[in-house]
Amino acid sequence: MNAPLPKMDHHWLPFTNNRLFKEAPQIFAKAEGVRYWTPDGQKILDGASGLFCCAAGHGRREIADAVHQQIMTLDYTPHFQRAAPISFEFAERLAGILPDGIDRIFFGNSGSEAVDSAVKICLAYHRATGQSQRTRFVSRNWAYHGVNLGGTSLAGMVNNRRDFGAVTFDAVHMRHTWSEEQRFSRGQPETGADRAEDLEEMCRLYGGETIAAVFIEPIAGSIGTVVPPKGYLERIRAICDKYGILLVFDEVITGFGRTGSAFAAQEFAVKPDLITMAKALTNGVVPMSAVAVKGEIQEAVIDAAQGDRPELFHGYTYSAHPVACAAGIAALNIYRDEDLFGRAKALSPKFLDMVFGFRNLPQVADLRGYGMLAGIQLTPGAAPGAKGSTVQRLLFDAGLHIKATGDAVIFAPALSVPEDDMLRMGEILQKVLGRADL
Ligand SMILES: Cc1ncc(COP(=O)(O)O)c(C=O)c1O
Repeated sequence: MNAPLPKMDHHWLPFTNNRLFKEAPQIFAKAEGVRYWTPDGQKILDGASGLFCCAAGHGRREIADAVHQQIMTLDYTPHFQRAAPISFEFAERLAGILPDGIDRIFFGNSGSEAVDSAVKICLAYHRATGQSQRTRFVSRNWAYHGVNLGGTSLAGMVNNRRDFGAVTFDAVHMRHTWSEEQRFSRGQPETGADRAEDLEEMCRLYGGETIAAVFIEPIAGSIGTVVPPKGYLERIRAICDKYGILLVFDEVITGFGRTGSAFAAQEFAVKPDLITMAKALTNGVVPMSAVAVKGEIQEAVIDAAQGDRPELFHGYTYSAHPVACAAGIAALNIYRDEDLFGRAKALSPKFLDMVFGFRNLPQVADLRGYGMLAGIQLTPGAAPGAKGSTVQRLLFDAGLHIKATGDAVIFAPALSVPEDDMLRMGEILQKVLGRADL
């Protein structure tokens, strides 16, 4: 393949330094399995499942066929007072893999929309049950809950909120769970569960009865894979129960097998009240997200509706888009038929052995990992984020696509990754992280 570079004057790339990008563009022109190709034909292994989306790898014909067939059968349906059979089918399939009872599905188009929808559903539930004083939201430092205004309010990554204070609501933040003594912990750290007491403290400070919901990424993904300490999520659940606070797990990254179970809620055996999901919902092929809600929450909101007005004044033109539903059902079929969640669990020990083998490399300051998700913390560079950006570029030049956030590298190959490709990804990482001159 030798395609010309596109003209790059008009597309403003998100989360990108557009000036630097144009100086040395990193462009993918083709993808298949766990590989991308640049326009000039360089092969790049995909160590990030795109952006943690393509759990079953790229170019899946089953999904392409389902999408094509859906477009030719019913390309679009509005979902305000109308519906198509396929969204009910997809919601039922999702209910089948979600934790018991978290089985009412509200569809959106991105993880950010799922988070904002969940914020509104929590408020609607409390209003419906006579608790409209519950308007405060709790999140955590280092949290990433997308970039819409709800997610920006909940954000615990400072760059994502710094410039937008004028349009966010006042969420309060607990500490993250990482601490020095956890360095190089594999799986769930032994220490740190006591950080859940921050929530107890907030209930004392603000009044537990004023808090609507707590948003938690069961594994904090975007910051660089921070795995919950043993007992932490259980303690958060118990405090939420004590004060009647809803618990939302944001599983946009951890959903669909990344931890070795369908959802992290099942893997860690802690049941939230709502779960947000996106990314691998359609194997990343068509934009879509969902909020899964406990039956009693949906029923309370529906029961409180007056007359024939909608019970939730919220939704998107593309909520439950039939083409996205078709992609989602086809993705779920692949996950089931190839037992990809089971495969993730079986492959995880080898994956983590490989990652924890980087421990003594000169660029490595910490390693974290669970399931098929790992974080590699780099030694600090000249300025925060500089090392991450250099390493990301060097990895690309060496043939590996990976996501860096700040000075952390997030390694998350497809759950379908062939073992020899996974080992090759590890070799490239080893080579770059082994350099002493960065
Ligand atoms: C936990 C979490 N929530 C929400 C989002 C936002 O998803 P999107 O980029 O699809 O809006 C992300 C994206 O990475 C995420 O990791």
